[in-house]
Order: sequence, then structure tokens, then C-alpha cells
Amino acid sequence: MENKNRQTDKKIIIAIDGYSSSGKSTMARELARRVGYVYVDSGAMYRAVTLYALRHGFVGRDKPLNREALVAALPDIHVSFAAGCGADGVQHTLLNGEDVENVIRDLEVSSYVSPVAEIAEVRRALVRLQQEMGRDKGIVMDGRDIGTAVFPQAEMKVFVDASASERATRRLRELEAKGEKVSYEEVLHNIEERDRIDTTREQSPLRKADDAYVLDNSNLTREEQMEWLIDLFDRLTGVS
Ligand code: CDP
Repeated sequence: MENKNRQTDKKIIIAIDGYSSSGKSTMARELARRVGYVYVDSGAMYRAVTLYALRHGFVGRDKPLNREALVAALPDIHVSFAAGCGADGVQHTLLNGEDVENVIRDLEVSSYVSPVAEIAEVRRALVRLQQEMGRDKGIVMDGRDIGTAVFPQAEMKVFVDASASERATRRLRELEAKGEKVSYEEVLHNIEERDRIDTTREQSPLRKADDAYVLDNSNLTREEQMEWLIDLFDRLTGVS
């Protein structure tokens, strides 16, 4: 399947949205690699802004989020990506030029990211950046509002779902592999809390776009879900 002659002249935008820890990022990155597209992890951008807020004391333990201070600092926050700069060859997220790829995945950042992502000004700045990144198409972007707000015109939209317990189990495995000491209950709580905030917020809440294809991967292997995605991609781009 990988050697199939794809019509590289017909580039599309692929939007992958879904709940936290549904495996979107892994599948989006893999799909981009398989079809030769650029991959952008929009969640990493919200995480980088959250890390900035934490480091500057705009939010933290016993410290309510200081929205005004964060919004005022937005012009000083520059989020970008560097292709394959890590030993793993994977794209890394940069915050004002510093590689923050690992630290933005911590449970600490995860705990504050959804309230930060609710701020209209933060969303406006990041959505503008994301839309610029997709100007030439040939891009796979994953997040919460990619098919609804960032690229409502995307040719391929996928909405990923999986049960909260399955997602918590996967995320726990990931964090443990990185040496973080966290319990299943903590991870599940964080996932449920983010689901709640992400789906009920005023600004572009997480919801399935009307024209999105639903992928429930609770019981799919990585290979099965990749096959599903490539089939859909081939159908939509007219590769036979
Ligand atoms: O990887 P995981 O599913 O845990 O989350 P993520 O994709 O890294 O996103 C982290 C958080 O950023 C989400 O829980 C949302 O609150 C926010 N986010 C968003 O509001 N809009 C996006 N397009 C992407 C992420």
C-alpha cells in the first residue's frame, strides 16, 4: 500500500479532532509520514502557552489563572516547531526558541492547559498561526477544533473517540514510560476534567463537525486504524 502512486498534485487538508488521549497525535503523525504531508500538533501549541503561563506565575498551585496578564504577554510568546531535532527524529515544539517538547507533556501542564485554551485571545492567536501553516495544504493537523474552526473547509475530517478508561490506561502507560509517578485515578481525573472543559467551553468547544468521519479506536490496533485512515485518504483524493 505504501508504494501506491499517490496523486501528489492534489494536496488536501486533513483535520483530526477528538478527546484527550484518544491517540490522535500518534495517528496524525503516522498518517502524515505515510502520505508525505506536514504534521502539526495544535495541542502542543496550547501546551507551550500554558508552560509560559506557569513559568511566569500567571497560573499555578493555589494561583487562579491570571487571564489579563497572560493575554498581555501574548506578543512575547512565540511557538514554533523544529523538524526532527530530537534524538528520536520527531518534530519538537519550541517556546521562544527553546525545545520544550518533553516538559509540555507533563501532568502539571496537562492540569492547566484546558483553562488556558478557553481564553478567546489565546485561541485567536494560535488559530491564526495554524491557518497560516495550512496555507499550502498538504497538512495533517490534530486538535479539538481543527475541522470546525481552524479548517472548516478541510477535505478530510476525522473525529476520534475511545472510552475514557481506555484513554486513561494508554496515557498512564505513556507517562510511566517517561518515569512520571502518577496513579491511574489521577490520569483518569485529568482526562475527564479536560473532556468536560473542552466540550462545554464557549470558544470553539470540542464537537464533531457534521461532515467528519468517526473513528472509534477503543478496539483497534495501530495498524488497523492506519489502514482505515489510508483507505479514507485514498478515497477522498481519488487514488485507486
Ligand atoms: O494529547 P492530548 O489529547 O492529551 O491533548 P492535546 O491534544 O495535547 O491538547 C491539550 C489541550 O489543549 C486540550 O485538552 C484542549 O484543552 C487544548 N486544545 C484546544 O483547545 N484546541 C486544540 N486545537 C488543541 C488542544
